[in-house]
Amino acid sequence: MQLPNYPITQYPSEYTNSNRKLELPMSLRRSLLYMPGTDWRKIEKAATELEADSICMDLEDGVALNRKDEARGTVVRALQTLDFGDSEKLVRINATDSDLAARDLESVLPARPDGIVIPKMRSADHVRWLHDQIASTEQRQGWKPGSISLLLIIESALGVVHLDEIVKASPRISALIFGAEDFASDIGAVRTKSGVEVLYARSKVVLYAKAHRLQAIDIVYPDFRDPEGFTTQARQGMKMGFTGKQLIHPNQIPLVHAVYTPSYEEIAQARKIVEAFQAHQESGTGAFALDGKMVDMPVVRQAELVLERARAAGKI
Ligand code: COA
Ligand code: MG
Repeated sequence: MQLPNYPITQYPSEYTNSNRKLELPMSLRRSLLYMPGTDWRKIEKAATELEADSICMDLEDGVALNRKDEARGTVVRALQTLDFGDSEKLVRINATDSDLAARDLESVLPARPDGIVIPKMRSADHVRWLHDQIASTEQRQGWKPGSISLLLIIESALGVVHLDEIVKASPRISALIFGAEDFASDIGAVRTKSGVEVLYARSKVVLYAKAHRLQAIDIVYPDFRDPEGFTTQARQGMKMGFTGKQLIHPNQIPLVHAVYTPSYEEIAQARKIVEAFQAHQESGTGAFALDGKMVDMPVVRQAELVLERARAAGKI
């Protein structure tokens, strides 16, 4: 019997070889650090002294309404003059349903950030609009199509409800980010320590990200003087399938890297599982016992994921 071959998503031909995405820079994004676009000191510090995987200069809620123009100017100057080293250069623009987004893009795109972070994303049409704006800048500047990626923040009821269409709306989407504070206020929930009120949506963002081979970036922990609370929440996110976390303070960078980088014991255990699996496969056994526990394909895949994380973090 011939199984039908349904493409996951139909993308314009310049973006695809087969039915999958053009290779976007899927760099490691364990830490995504925000700072206000008006704050030169913090931007400079992040670019030159800190080791965040991604640095996100904010034009949205971290900037007062009467300073948006100044923030655009500061962010453009940073993109043009600072050496960000190995860190990814991102800009969070204002929401696409505000009249600020078009001016944000017009200012920052020519300075060539690596990606644009879009808050309050709730409609596939808005993603397509963004895609086209970026595509025409890339074309005008002679840059490779798809070189600027999109990271979408899902933080409203509509954003969650429309996830299925949103994730398919552009091949340059490389990550979904969940925003717990805005989401809670949008649905009229009260934030609690357990986070039960955002669990469904937080988990759904992981699900849609993974279904489309995207990164999933977890919520902000606002209390930057509480390393234990931060680590507990970061571990929970990692165990839910997130690949990184949004940060607001330099203190949080080493903590999140520790959570998303496997320890040497975890690496050794993962290697042991993969090697034992290969030996058992050769002898014709699928499932087997290792240290009193059953090992089969899903366990091996999880061990491979640990090794992948370690490799991505340069630990292997
Ligand atoms: N990025 C880069 N550097 C940062 C930083 C950030 N987000 N937050 C703090 N720093 C720097 C400070 O500049 C200071 O360095 P310096 O003394 O060498 O200049 C150092 O880290 C210690 O800062 P600290 O005094 O503990 O914090 P603060 O009072 O200056 O700032 C906040 C506290 C919360 C205002 C600040 O962390 C911040 O602006 N966070 C991001 C807010 C944001 O962007 N929100 C929107 C997205 S959710
Ligand atoms: Mg928000």
